[in-house]
Amino acid sequence: MEESQCHQWLNLLGLLALSYLLLKQVWSLLAGCKNHILSRWWRTNLKKYGGWAVVTGATDGIGKAYALELAKRGFDVILISRTLEKLEKVAKEIENLTRRKTKIIQLDFTGGAEIYTKVEKALKDLDIGILVNNVGMTYFNEVTRFHEVPDINKRIENIMNCNLQSMIQMTKIVLPKMVQRKKGLIINLSSAAGARPYPMITMYGATKAFMDFFSRSLNVEYRSDGIIVQSVLPHLVSTNMTRHPSANILVKTSDDFAREALNTVGYSHRTNGCLSHCFQSYILDHLLTETFMNSWICLFLGGCAMSLIVKITKLGKKDK
Ligand SMILES: NC(=O)c1ccc[n+]([C@@H]2O[C@H](COP(=O)([O-])OP(=O)(O)OC[C@H]3O[C@@H](n4cnc5c(N)ncnc54)[C@H](OP(=O)(O)O)[C@@H]3O)[C@@H](O)[C@H]2O)c1
Repeated sequence: MEESQCHQWLNLLGLLALSYLLLKQVWSLLAGCKNHILSRWWRTNLKKYGGWAVVTGATDGIGKAYALELAKRGFDVILISRTLEKLEKVAKEIENLTRRKTKIIQLDFTGGAEIYTKVEKALKDLDIGILVNNVGMTYFNEVTRFHEVPDINKRIENIMNCNLQSMIQMTKIVLPKMVQRKKGLIINLSSAAGARPYPMITMYGATKAFMDFFSRSLNVEYRSDGIIVQSVLPHLVSTNMTRHPSANILVKTSDDFAREALNTVGYSHRTNGCLSHCFQSYILDHLLTETFMNSWICLFLGGCAMSLIVKITKLGKKDK
C-alpha cells in the first residue's frame, strides 16, 4: 500500500473513532434530558402498579420523602421503621396532608431473617404495587480503615442485616404476588458510593454495590413479568445520615430528591435520581480516573473534608 493511501485509511479510522465518541456523548446527553427533564411533564402512571406502597426506613430523610410523594400520587402507604413514636407522627402527617390511608410496622432491620414473619403477616392481604427498599445505615461518623471500625463484629452484622438482608427479604415477600398480577415496581436505594470504590467507608460502599447489582440482575429477570426493579444511586442528600448539610446545586433536599427520582421510573432502571447527581456521576466516570480517585492525595483531601463536616456538625450540635 502506498504511503498516501495508508494516511487516508488512518484519517478515515480517526474520523470514525471521533464520530463514535461524539455520538456517544450526544446520546448520553439526550438520555439525560429524557430521564430528568422530559420525565417532569410525561410522568409514568404509577397507579397502574397497585393500591399500596411499602417504604422501609420511612420516618426520616429519603424514605419519608418517598412515602409522602407516593401518597401525593395516590397510594396508600405502609411505613416500616424502628421508632414507634416517629412512625405514628409521620403516618398522621401523611394522612392529614394527602387523605390517603397508612399502616405502620415497627421493626428493627438489624435483626436476622426471623423478623420478617411479622411483615409477611401484615402485608398478606394487601395489593402491594410498589416497594421502596430505602432503609440503610453507615458508619459515617467514624471515617476509618476497616479493621479499626469500633465494635467491628456488631457493626458488620448490623450493616449487612440493615442494608442487604432487609432488601432481599422484603423483595422475597412482595415478588410472588407481583408476578401473579404481572405488574409491580421495586425501588432500591443504593448509593453513588456503590458505583465506584469508596475507601474509608468500605463496608457501606460495598453493601451499596451489592444492592445495585442485585437490582440490575433482578430487573432483567422480571421485566417480562411487567415488573420494574430500579436501582437509585444518589450522591449527597441532606438528611440525618449526612448530618444535614445545607442544600445547594450539588446537595438535594430529600423532598426534591424523592420527587425527581420518582419521575425517572419508567425512563431508567438505573439512575442517580436527579439531574445534578447524574452530572456529578458523569464527571466522576469520565473526567476523574479510578487511579486518581484512589490516590493518596485524593484520599487525604476526602478524609480532611469528611472530618471537617463531622467536626462542624458536632460544633453545631454543641451550640444548640
Ligand atoms: N442521604 C444521602 O446522602 C444518601 C446518599 C446515597 C444513598 N443514601 C441511601 O438512602 C437511604 C436513606 O438514607 P437517609 O439519608 O434518608 O437516612 P436517614 O435520614 O438516616 O433515615 C433513615 C431511616 O431509616 C430508619 N432506620 C435506620 N436504621 C433502622 C433500623 N435498624 N431499623 C429500622 N429502621 C431504621 C430510620 O428510622 P429511625 O429514626 O426510627 O431509626 C429513618 O427513618 C439509605 O439506604 C442510604 O444508604 C443516602
